[in-house]
Amino acid sequence: MTKNESTTHGAVLPDTPAQDEDAPIVELRGAGKSYGNIRALHGVSLTVHPGKVTCVLGDNGAGKSTLIKIISGLHQHTEGDFLVDGRPVRFSTPREALDKGIATVYQDLAVVPLMPVWRNFFLGSEMTKGPWPLRRLDIETMKKTADAELRNMGIVLDDLEQPIGTLSGGQRQCVAIARAVYFGARVLILDEPTAALGVKQSGVVLKYIAAARDKGLGVIFITHNPHHAYMVGDHFSVLRLGTMELNASRDEVSLDELTNHMAGGAELAALKHELAQVRGVDVDELPEETDLTAPVGTSEGTS
Ligand SMILES: Nc1ncnc2c1ncn2[C@@H]1O[C@H](COP(=O)(O)OP(=O)(O)O)[C@@H](O)[C@H]1O
Ligand SMILES: [Mg+2]
Repeated sequence: MTKNESTTHGAVLPDTPAQDEDAPIVELRGAGKSYGNIRALHGVSLTVHPGKVTCVLGDNGAGKSTLIKIISGLHQHTEGDFLVDGRPVRFSTPREALDKGIATVYQDLAVVPLMPVWRNFFLGSEMTKGPWPLRRLDIETMKKTADAELRNMGIVLDDLEQPIGTLSGGQRQCVAIARAVYFGARVLILDEPTAALGVKQSGVVLKYIAAARDKGLGVIFITHNPHHAYMVGDHFSVLRLGTMELNASRDEVSLDELTNHMAGGAELAALKHELAQVRGVDVDELPEETDLTAPVGTSEGTS
């Protein structure tokens, strides 16, 4: 799947590193970000491989958005390394990230609610036809292409003429995913795509995350829901107060363990004794503090 445009002009560039199929597309090594003297993120290491889903979990304020802002070119890291295709990078605009095939679907999607679905699919990259100065929008081709691309991802909408604002939140996320795939994304970043959705809609979005993965994209799935993460994830990174508290592949962590990390298992265990004094609070299921003192970074040092 690796598209190497630089080799199309004949000579294979000698300094191009051998592109191993499974080499990470994106890699962070001890990366961090400070806003002035606020350290929002520190010592984060993470890899994104083609055809794999890397989940980033964490409570509010954990640093999830800061992390994806670095990768998507909105902010620059202030410590550590950020590599794309094995080379250190520092993006100054989201456009530069996009040029490397890193596409981001934000929580608050940038769509024009009253415009038809197909129009939103091509927003900012409209197809045109005819010579200048008679150049005009190629509406027919755009409609056909949007329809084919959505179907290709298994997304069937009754009518692409309907304003995108009439779609459900889940459907809009799906259109955004299909759009990123069509425009050649290699890495898809999703910032809490299921946060505002019900169970069924979340399932639909998870299905298209899996579809994007199966098309060979590397997916970064940000969520605070361990169940959603575990349904599609290959690798799990849990952030807490800006640092990585867990960094484990699927075979190194169970859903229970992940849930415990996310539920603030350690904090709750520490509170267990106090909570037990409160009438109507059942603490039997809470872990003991001693159960949770084992080292958490099980895969530390493996990368
Ligand atoms: N632009 C900013 N300026 C200063 N502090 C920020 C900025 N953006 C985020 N932070 C701080 O960084 C920390 C992590 O925030 P964020 O990455 O948004 O977390 P999350 O997305 O996990 O909720 C928070 O303490 C937040 O207040
Ligand atoms: Mg956030």
